[in-house]
Amino acid sequence: MNRLFFGDNLEWLRGGKIKDESVDLVYLDPPFNSKATYNILYKSPVGADAQKKAFEDTWRWEDGAEAAMEAVRRSDVAIFRVLQALQGFLGQSDLMAYLAMMTVRLIELKRVLKSTGSIYLHCDPTASHYLKAVMDAIFGAANFRNEIVWLRSRNPKGSQHSIKKFSPSTDTILYYARSSEAPFYDDAIRRPLSEEELIEKYDREDEHGRYADGPIICSASMGPRPNLVYEYKGYTPPPYGWRVNIEKLRAIDAAGNLAWSKSGAPRRKLRPDQDKGAPVGSFWGDIPPLNSQAEERIGYPTQKPLALLERIILASSKPGDVVLDPFCGCGTAVHAAERLGRSWVGIDITYLAIQVIEDRIKTWLPTTKYVVEGIPKDEFAARKLAELQPYTFQEWAVGRIGGQAKGRGPDKGIDGEISFISGPGRYGHAIVSVKGGRHVGPDAIRVLKSVVQREGADMGVFICVNDPTPDMRTEAALGGRIELPGGERPRIQIVTVKDLITGPNLGILTELNTVRATQEARAVQRKRPARKPTPEELRREPPLPPMPITGGKPTRDQQPLPLDEPLLVNQVEKKARRHR
Ligand SMILES: C[S@@+](CC[C@H](N)C(=O)[O-])C[C@H]1O[C@@H](n2cnc3c(N)ncnc32)[C@H](O)[C@@H]1O
Repeated sequence: MNRLFFGDNLEWLRGGKIKDESVDLVYLDPPFNSKATYNILYKSPVGADAQKKAFEDTWRWEDGAEAAMEAVRRSDVAIFRVLQALQGFLGQSDLMAYLAMMTVRLIELKRVLKSTGSIYLHCDPTASHYLKAVMDAIFGAANFRNEIVWLRSRNPKGSQHSIKKFSPSTDTILYYARSSEAPFYDDAIRRPLSEEELIEKYDREDEHGRYADGPIICSASMGPRPNLVYEYKGYTPPPYGWRVNIEKLRAIDAAGNLAWSKSGAPRRKLRPDQDKGAPVGSFWGDIPPLNSQAEERIGYPTQKPLALLERIILASSKPGDVVLDPFCGCGTAVHAAERLGRSWVGIDITYLAIQVIEDRIKTWLPTTKYVVEGIPKDEFAARKLAELQPYTFQEWAVGRIGGQAKGRGPDKGIDGEISFISGPGRYGHAIVSVKGGRHVGPDAIRVLKSVVQREGADMGVFICVNDPTPDMRTEAALGGRIELPGGERPRIQIVTVKDLITGPNLGILTELNTVRATQEARAVQRKRPARKPTPEELRREPPLPPMPITGGKPTRDQQPLPLDEPLLVNQVEKKARRHR
């Protein structure tokens, strides 16, 4: 049965839900430690889009890298030595944290792979050389098959002058087999030749049509083949033998596809209608990245093209095989696997990703049968999640109220944020505090109020496991009220696990940019004549939060553009004003 798991892949892999040697193909596309903050678009009913952070692409040493190193030491000393050597060079850096966290997961992935299985690790050149050393240690250097280079950008962005290097435009995919028994279905991924290539290749003609000259005798490098050494029409080949058995040879001859050279050596005539296509090399420049108008584009950051996943799945699995993507994002591997008749397992720690995948399945693959695990269905399950996996609980709880959870690490009192619609073309900002413990009191509400004030936010939402005490209610009520499109509401709202299960009502509106919404927005865009916005329209645009220039978090001192003057003014008038 196809399965979608919500939560940390390490927890699921260790939890025994995915059995040893049960998977035929693993594709993983983990966040690359690029320090970028990915954003996902939320469509608002008033026509503008607000940006929301989907997940933070950052690994920090203090978030468990030490524990990961220790887990590797306990599981395999040889692999641990490789990590230690890397640590000697990289220290306790974020990159080293990324490598340690990847290593524990890769060890688990090896465990679940069948002996005939394959694994494709999608990464980028910042870390691929370190990851290759780790993969060699885990899977064995002899099982390395390819370093695939995918041309992910055809129009490299940014000025080389400012970045002082060639603009990065490729990703790296490390392909390893679990053992030499892992199959490679090269015929399934061959590229059909173009008309020009066919004309160039099949450059001879006889009474049956065009053909190319090819060998019918094996070459010396193929080694002796005594069972294929037989006489045919008076000719006996050298010890390497014919390329086919006698029945096939007769059929080839009968079809007019056996020729004899002037010296009396047999040759085979190859016909264009039987051409198998060109084999695919390890440079993949023929799979374009998703452009903004691509039908399959969902808006999830780092979404990969279906064609990329289809090639991988076709090359290393057959129908009915099991494909696992432990960092499945918006589910491209899931989508491709389902389309190609494979079973699949997807895991993602972002609640939003699970919502997007379900939406994707509903839109494009409505008959798909699958189960979702890890999302609490009742209060008991939610409490258990809070106790056992506090970060996953936080991710689910914040996602349930339409917000975006903060990653692990120092949170400055902010466990999540919500961008909500506060009026036509206007957005409000709410701070979310999550307390998974059983004993919380009015102090926690006071802290949230001060964070709301410090951040200049409009609202605060306090999520707790148990019903709030009367003191907590009073403290929240003292926070005052806020005017929202649906009416007045408390500025500080308390949400319990019970509310999260039944569906909380905060009186705010946020709308996830679903597959349907993306398609509708695209259709509207296509109809809209291209023109510049008027100064009045520019004024009406909602103010976007300050965005980092090179990734990382927005800093407080980045100011929004001053829009108290129209941006488009008559240049003569502007000059005159400057001289006044
Ligand atoms: C680069 S994206 C994958 C994109 C995906 N290939 C696609 O086409 O949509 C990485 C994903 O890994 C998820 N992720 C990060 N850490 C994780 C973890 N420990 N367990 C499971 N998923 C994780 C993130 O939420 C994110 O969706």
